[in-house]
Amino acid sequence: MDLKDQINKDRLPQHLAIIMDGNGRWAKQKGLFRSIGHENGTKAVREIVEGSAEIGIPFLTLYAFSTENWNRPKIEVELLMKLLVSSLKKEIKTLNDNDIKLNAIGNLDALPKKAYKELLDVIEKTKNNKRMTLTLALSYGSREEITKTIKEISLKVKNNLISPHDIDETVINNHLYTQNLPDVDLLIRTSGEQRISNFLLWQIAYAELYFTETLWPDYTKNHLFEAILNYQNRERRFGKTSEQLNQ
Ligand code: IPE
Ligand code: IPE
Ligand code: MG
Repeated sequence: MDLKDQINKDRLPQHLAIIMDGNGRWAKQKGLFRSIGHENGTKAVREIVEGSAEIGIPFLTLYAFSTENWNRPKIEVELLMKLLVSSLKKEIKTLNDNDIKLNAIGNLDALPKKAYKELLDVIEKTKNNKRMTLTLALSYGSREEITKTIKEISLKVKNNLISPHDIDETVINNHLYTQNLPDVDLLIRTSGEQRISNFLLWQIAYAELYFTETLWPDYTKNHLFEAILNYQNRERRFGKTSEQLNQ
């Protein structure tokens, strides 16, 4: 039986987040420039977006560029921004054909104007799609997000719009970039690195973590289905005992 057919549709992660890592090493292993690794990485993006929609995952979030990635060589940053614009342009039809809505999180003001404009354009043109929300984390860093949240809430307190006693998890959630997204259920990181790299620190509080050696440009639908099946075999206890869950 195909891996895909083994997936239990009633126990899908509602929110899948992926740290797409390993483009550079993929290229290096083949004696190619890092840029070729990034180009091949965009093919894996298409494959995984399609695979996620096919099995019915409602929210997919991809870590595409971190706040720390601005520190890479200028030429690599420029290439990544160019790739972003060209893939957004190319994918708009596929997104609409597959009923996928584009969303973005991160300090988007930091993006080059052209990339920012293209992004807003695709978000606008896909806003009525319903099957899946694809969120790109761009110029995203969790600490930047949390800092921004604290600033915004402090300002509301200062202006008497909210009392410190009323600050709870919901208020905090409502100020994060991810305010319209549920908590992450499954976080996948490719390329063998086992770290979070400043991604969705608040939102992964109870996510299941899945690390795989596969480099991002080699990541296929079957790899994704394998990860989903692995997730479905775990018991998510949220602090309770196994007995409580099974009674
Ligand atoms: C992930 O691949 C893509 C981005 C971070 C933009 P890397 O470029 O980090 O690839 P490695 O880690 O150098 O192999
Ligand atoms: C994390 O990957 C960021 C993205 C995948 C966009 P990095 O390759 O930048 O992470 P570190 O620096 O190795 O932790
Ligand atoms: Mg990396």
